Amino acid sequence: MPRLKITVLVSGGGSNFQAILDAIQGQNLEAEVVGLISNRREAYALERAEKFGVESSYIGKGNYPDADQRAQVLLQTLEAHSPDLIVLAGYLAILPPAVIARFKRRIINIHPSLIPKHCGPGYYGIHVHESVIQSGDTVSGATTHFVDEGVDTGEIIFQETVTLSTDETPLTLSKKVLSIEHKLLVRTLKAIILDKVCLG
Ligand code: GRF
Repeated sequence: MPRLKITVLVSGGGSNFQAILDAIQGQNLEAEVVGLISNRREAYALERAEKFGVESSYIGKGNYPDADQRAQVLLQTLEAHSPDLIVLAGYLAILPPAVIARFKRRIINIHPSLIPKHCGPGYYGIHVHESVIQSGDTVSGATTHFVDEGVDTGEIIFQETVTLSTDETPLTLSKKVLSIEHKLLVRTLKAIILDKVCLG
């Protein structure tokens, strides 16, 4: 059975990317990360990729200021990886329509709330958890979903919940949710590998 080829897109620390690497190394995931792409030069995820020997690229406004050229380079880089699946793991740029069209139903994202709540433009990182707490919700969680032309609007794959404590802060909630994200992402990839979730 050929291993699922994955390209991961990041913007930050890359702990979800690391969760995939750890699952592969622990023989807990029949997959291969064929590339990492960051839109931020300083993303720590790039260091994680180097340590693990994963080919990585920086494709951002700093080295490709022209949006059309940046989109073209991103698509060309993805084509060169020829992944079975693209995983957005804290990728904060909007994917060009050409990429979404080329990899229809082959791009997934992980979002740190129970979509359709606390998601969409502006809902990323700590802002998500601030919104959850301000709303008075007592339950939050994480969602994996297919990526379509919208922001956090694609078909939901899996969700896992966490219960807020009475003294929860955005920071403590972000850590609580991040730890279940790692498990949820690996569970989602396993389901895709086992064809329990069908790709395009
Ligand atoms: C995670 O909270 C993820 O849900 C969101 O961005 C964050 C990425 O964290 N999309 P990391 O870079 O994987 O540590």
